[in-house]
Amino acid sequence: MILSIESSCDDSSIAITNIETKELIYHKKISQELQHSVYGGVVPELAARLHVEALPKILEECKEYFPALKAIAVTNAPGLSVTLMEGVTMAKALALSLDLPLIAVNHLKGHIYSLFIEKEEVLPITILLVSGGHTQIIEANSLNDMNIIATTMDDSFGESFDKVSKMMKLGYPGGPIVQEYALKGDENRFELPIPLRQSPNIEFSYSGLKNAVRLQIEKLENSENEISEQDKYDICACFQKTAVAHIMQKTKKLFKQKAPKNFAIVGGASANIYLRTQIEDLCKTNKTNLYLSQLKYCSDNAAMIGRVAIEQYKQNDFISIDEIDVKSRLKEF
Ligand code: KG4
Ligand code: ZN
Repeated sequence: MILSIESSCDDSSIAITNIETKELIYHKKISQELQHSVYGGVVPELAARLHVEALPKILEECKEYFPALKAIAVTNAPGLSVTLMEGVTMAKALALSLDLPLIAVNHLKGHIYSLFIEKEEVLPITILLVSGGHTQIIEANSLNDMNIIATTMDDSFGESFDKVSKMMKLGYPGGPIVQEYALKGDENRFELPIPLRQSPNIEFSYSGLKNAVRLQIEKLENSENEISEQDKYDICACFQKTAVAHIMQKTKKLFKQKAPKNFAIVGGASANIYLRTQIEDLCKTNKTNLYLSQLKYCSDNAAMIGRVAIEQYKQNDFISIDEIDVKSRLKEF
């Protein structure tokens, strides 16, 4: 079995995975959303301190599996340096004390492999990764051959939901809240600009849309003193419609060049129903096989890290305790 640790942002999670059967033997995650909610976003130092409390608590429950362990895996990039460090420190201590090899896992590969938890891999596959930190289209040919073919020039899809939510003091994380508010809103009330509409390139941008939402909120505040609940519902509906229209426009462009055989959406924001429905339609029209992670594995978790670690273990892809370091950003896979 492999014990894997995830602490790249605000979720402390540990999983135990069977190498041969790929079965998830144990999985637990403690989220810090409530603690960060008051700040409208993740506070890295607070997140790191909360990992220090949560990770050992979860580890305590895993002790019975220690004799069966063959390796320790940990997310080391990309993410928040101070929080990644907590997971990596624990992984190094475990590898040293249990005399086990160490596996460094790329968090983004984790999101991709969330598709294959307790399943065989489906490759090659084209992936839309939408999370709090990333908005990318990736072509995955194998674990070691993944290429980013489109990315965001500024904010990410999930991040823009968080920021819109923060502007109206709706709470964190913004994605699920904005999605819920949008259900009661009129998506045609405000005209918001679809980003990069005229650009022939397949790339993303969310800062302009975010500013357009800010201006609309200010306009409403000036005319009504305080924006009403209905205003908030309408803003959320119009924003979500435009944010998804942007992704769809660029994804359709990609499909027009060459419709992929296999396609998937992964990452925390892939839980967005409005986006999922439209991607489902696009895949149906193009006879593309669509793969989705189970909702419980969309956001950050150690089960997906464990699934990647199984493949790395089979390739003897280990790293020494002295060599492993954390990286907040990665330019490529
Ligand atoms: O993958 P994840 O858990 O963490 C990162 O690696 O960033 O993704 C979290 C992000 C947050 O920005 C959150 O607001 C967004 O995913 N998110 C959503 C939805 N659920 C979560 N965004 C849009 N719609 C949702 N339903
Ligand atoms: Zn993530």
